[in-house]
Amino acid sequence: MEKEIEAWERNYQKGRYNNWPYDILVSLVMNLFAVKERQQIKILDLGCGGGNNTYFLAKEGFKTYAIDGAPKGVEITKKRLKQENLNAQCIVGNFKNLPYENDFFNCIIDRASIYCNIWKDIKLIFNEVYRVLKKEGIYIGFLPNLNHPDLIYGEEFEKNTYTNFKEGSYSHSDIAHFFSKDEIIDVLKDFMIEDILEHKLNCILDEKKSHLRLAEYIVMARK
Ligand SMILES: C[S@@+](CC[C@H](N)C(=O)[O-])C[C@H]1O[C@@H](n2cnc3c(N)ncnc32)[C@H](O)[C@@H]1O
Repeated sequence: MEKEIEAWERNYQKGRYNNWPYDILVSLVMNLFAVKERQQIKILDLGCGGGNNTYFLAKEGFKTYAIDGAPKGVEITKKRLKQENLNAQCIVGNFKNLPYENDFFNCIIDRASIYCNIWKDIKLIFNEVYRVLKKEGIYIGFLPNLNHPDLIYGEEFEKNTYTNFKEGSYSHSDIAHFFSKDEIIDVLKDFMIEDILEHKLNCILDEKKSHLRLAEYIVMARK
């Protein structure tokens, strides 16, 4: 198993994963695809983890696909879908070589998954995302950015990529890349960028003690 995935497999083995869908992802998907015929809309949950967002997509009736490199994550996702009597195609695989045909998905969701990779691989992965999206298909990404307060707990081992987090939100991860705006524009150069939102929670008391620590770009880009 590759390094970017090992830490996640350990988390899932210990039962540590998100159980509920990411709130902004729910709002965006429901806004973008406000249609009744959802079985025609193919959405890939790239890095499904324990299936929090896969569950939401399947429950809302989209034609749902999920992929993750961590076998335990995929197992948990499948189990949950079965319990809820929902359908999705869930597979173990690496983003660097997505096992789907060209021009396949209407939408690909990356809820904090691509950022777990080194820069060279991030570039490869965005090429793969582009390849498997249909024309006018949309990529929705949640990418941590350089304003993240917990970046200081890691060691930078290549530009904007950190590891060995001593504490904070990334202490259970291994590799974390924190994006600059220019890097996003670079990896999405073949796409039409529709939106880049900065989502940061500013604690006005003691930031170190804050319960939610977050600085990310929310990106929407079409093929
Ligand atoms: C931070 S977790 C996010 C899980 C889920 N999207 C969520 O919202 O909770 C990142 C996931 O991406 C997966 N991942 C990261 N890089 C990967 C790669 N190159 N190939 C396959 N899976 C990868 C990890 O195994 C992990 O499950």
